[in-house]
Amino acid sequence: MKIALIGYGKMGKAIETIALAEGHEIVLKISSTNLYDFTNANIQQADVCIEFSTPHTAFENIKKCLLAGVPTISGSTAWLHQLEEIYTICRAQDTAFLYASNFSIGVNLFFQINEYVAQLMQPYHEYHVSMEEIHHTAKKDAPSGTAVTLAEGILKHHAGLAKWVNQTTDNPNEMAIISKRIDPAPGTHTIFYNSPIDSIEIKHTAHSRMGFAYGALLAAKFICDKKGIYSMKDVLA
Ligand SMILES: NC(=O)c1ccc[n+]([C@@H]2O[C@H](COP(=O)([O-])OP(=O)(O)OC[C@H]3O[C@@H](n4cnc5c(N)ncnc54)[C@H](OP(=O)(O)O)[C@@H]3O)[C@@H](O)[C@H]2O)c1
Repeated sequence: MKIALIGYGKMGKAIETIALAEGHEIVLKISSTNLYDFTNANIQQADVCIEFSTPHTAFENIKKCLLAGVPTISGSTAWLHQLEEIYTICRAQDTAFLYASNFSIGVNLFFQINEYVAQLMQPYHEYHVSMEEIHHTAKKDAPSGTAVTLAEGILKHHAGLAKWVNQTTDNPNEMAIISKRIDPAPGTHTIFYNSPIDSIEIKHTAHSRMGFAYGALLAAKFICDKKGIYSMKDVLA
């Protein structure tokens, strides 16, 4: 598989290591210093684009890859208010797109565990739900995309909660997400159900970036010969 890496930072480099070890070819690497190489012709050398850049550059990068007609996956966070626009471009170009707030297989299992626990806890109003996410200090956005996905999974099953907020809260209609930035944490997410008499916690801890990189490569292999819009649920089905 010929791969274009759009964003060649911590994630781009981790994906490159695994892709080369599996015998794939990296035909394009884009960071902020060589944007002049990010041309239609260069993108079209690739079977798939893997986009991990920044919250402010992700949308334009993904758009450019899709307009070049190349199946694209993205893991960049904090641009999702423009997701529908990307879906529209993807359909119009008759190509493929997959977004995951977290590509790790363990986290995608954790998403399902989270929803199962949220359903189970639904009738027990004495439990107050909250979340903590810990990432390295270079992380540019808060809360993490993974925390937002987890929060949405909880709100879906919890009629008493109207929204999540990225701070502590005394409002019983809000779920607090507390973001901590501590090096070198690649990503830890804990969901707490606290009642006056006991507490229940579920927690996922990433030990390195490799889990995200393996999952991203798996998704790239899945999407490279497809058309349409997919999620990690399709990859892991
Ligand atoms: N979904 C997941 O599983 C997952 C996992 C980990 C991280 N993430 C997210 O993925 C993103 C990247 O994470 P990271 O840890 O790799 O960050 P990083 O180390 O800061 O790398 C970001 C890369 O983007 C490049 N970049 C900046 N502007 C660009 C532009 N206009 N076009 C293309 N590339 C550009 C940077 O280039 P310079 O170095 O030249 O500035 C750098 O190579 C973040 O949003 C992060 O939250 C997602």
